[in-house]
Amino acid sequence: MNEKPDYQSMSLKPTIRPSDKDGAADRIRDNQARRPFSLNLSAKLLLLTIIFVMLSEIFVFVPSVAKFRNDWLTDRLTRALTVLLMTEEQGTGIQRSAEESLAMQQRIEAAIRSFDVVTLANRHSGRRQLVAMLDGNPGPMAANFDVSKTGPLQSIRDAFGTLLANEPRTIVITGSPPGSNQMIEVLALEAPLRAAMLTYTRNVMILSLIISVSTAAMVYLTLTMLFVRPIKQMADNMVSFSRSPEENRAIIQPSGRADEIGIAEERLAAMQKDLQGTLASQRHLANLGLAVSKINHDLRNILASVQLFSDRLTALPDPDVQKFAPKLIAGIDRAISYCESTLVYGSAKEEPPKRKLMRLDAMVKELALLLDLEDHPRIEWRNGVATGLEIDADPEQIFRVLMNLARNAIKAMDTMEGDALVRRLSIDAGADAHIVRIVISDSGPGVPERARRHLFEPFRGSISKGGTGLGLAIANEIITAHGGTIRLCEDQAPGATFEITLPHKPTRSA
Ligand SMILES: Nc1ncnc2c1ncn2[C@@H]1O[C@H](COP(=O)(O)OP(=O)(O)OP(=O)(O)O)[C@@H](O)[C@H]1O
Ligand SMILES: [Mg+2]
Repeated sequence: MNEKPDYQSMSLKPTIRPSDKDGAADRIRDNQARRPFSLNLSAKLLLLTIIFVMLSEIFVFVPSVAKFRNDWLTDRLTRALTVLLMTEEQGTGIQRSAEESLAMQQRIEAAIRSFDVVTLANRHSGRRQLVAMLDGNPGPMAANFDVSKTGPLQSIRDAFGTLLANEPRTIVITGSPPGSNQMIEVLALEAPLRAAMLTYTRNVMILSLIISVSTAAMVYLTLTMLFVRPIKQMADNMVSFSRSPEENRAIIQPSGRADEIGIAEERLAAMQKDLQGTLASQRHLANLGLAVSKINHDLRNILASVQLFSDRLTALPDPDVQKFAPKLIAGIDRAISYCESTLVYGSAKEEPPKRKLMRLDAMVKELALLLDLEDHPRIEWRNGVATGLEIDADPEQIFRVLMNLARNAIKAMDTMEGDALVRRLSIDAGADAHIVRIVISDSGPGVPERARRHLFEPFRGSISKGGTGLGLAIANEIITAHGGTIRLCEDQAPGATFEITLPHKPTRSA
């Protein structure tokens, strides 16, 4: 009788527009189309690595070019010392032939020319003694560079002065060559120094470029393999998941890495699984809602036609028919009004209670009649509602609540096997100044632990075959709308006891 409808096989399905489904993927594609020239992550990495390596090379280049210049200047002083020693040897009193003297003079000049020196002087006790001088125009004079006294910052400044000099200059180099305390002053052309520095700069630049490109390539490959590719895979997976979230293979397969990317993959997979579960239950609920609407619609039509015939029953003279026909008609009327007022559960709430003053004992009696409890062959029935107890509530809704609770109790006791077992159902009710308390109690097997966890949640409380899990959820919603409470009593007594409390308005007694 209470067969669970086969919702899955029903043809009426909620329509999910493809635009809804593909919305996220489309938006991602649109965003990408809007930024056609933007660099992707790998290209940015490549560019940034080249820039940073070049920058660090510049930091290394600046002091090194200054050192290169200092070395060049020191080298000139060293060579000057050699020439100085040669001239000193020439000046000793040793007798030489004219050829020998000429040859020595030529050697000295050749040595001076070999290192682009114009004049060479020996400084001694603050006095300057010219040692050698070549012919030629020395050009405009630049500053005097004292190699031994120049600090690192000044060296850098001087080096850039040389590199950026736009006309040939002559410089004075003073200082002692390494390993000697002889003070020497050399007047030299700057052009060879500048040429050497430019060659050095070019070589450093070429080397830097090679280093930065090869470093960038290595960093790029490593980062691409380690980060960019997994991130791109995750992004692609998100797009394909948003296109077809219901497919199992759309869920990302975590790579098992122990780092942050591995953790992100695992979290994404867990989130996608959750989302898939939620989507499945949403779809199920949507199907169910449509199925209920359809059933509701057709059931109301069938009942309406049955109502036409049942009306005629009252005209029959049979006393039994006269006795039962009004109840049958009332039941059908009630069913039709349920169908008309019930909307899809979940998308529409129960209507707000239409409160009326009603007699609860009479309603419980009517319920017992409808469920055939008065002369039930196996169940002992007791209506324990205080006679004449009046409550202010929606009669149709309270009737449905009691009907659901009583049917649950009957259904539970039907599962008990054995004629000797006691099957007892009672509804008791009483009121004090503020509260009406209604207790529905049975001697059945009790509510199973598994059902208790989500007892009053729609579609979740049911564990019984053929149950939908809506009965107690409906009861809870109605009672809550009345400002009352419903609960399962957690006592150790056998069977199940539900307690309903409703706010009690004092009524004017007759
Ligand atoms: N009096 C009771 N005795 C034992 N178990 C009960 C009793 N009342 C409720 N239950 C348990 O609680 C579950 C939820 O009840 P509920 O009325 O919400 O759903 P249902 O009866 O399974 O389906 P339906 O929507 O048709 O009422 C039942 O499946 C049953 O296992
Ligand atoms: Mg039920």
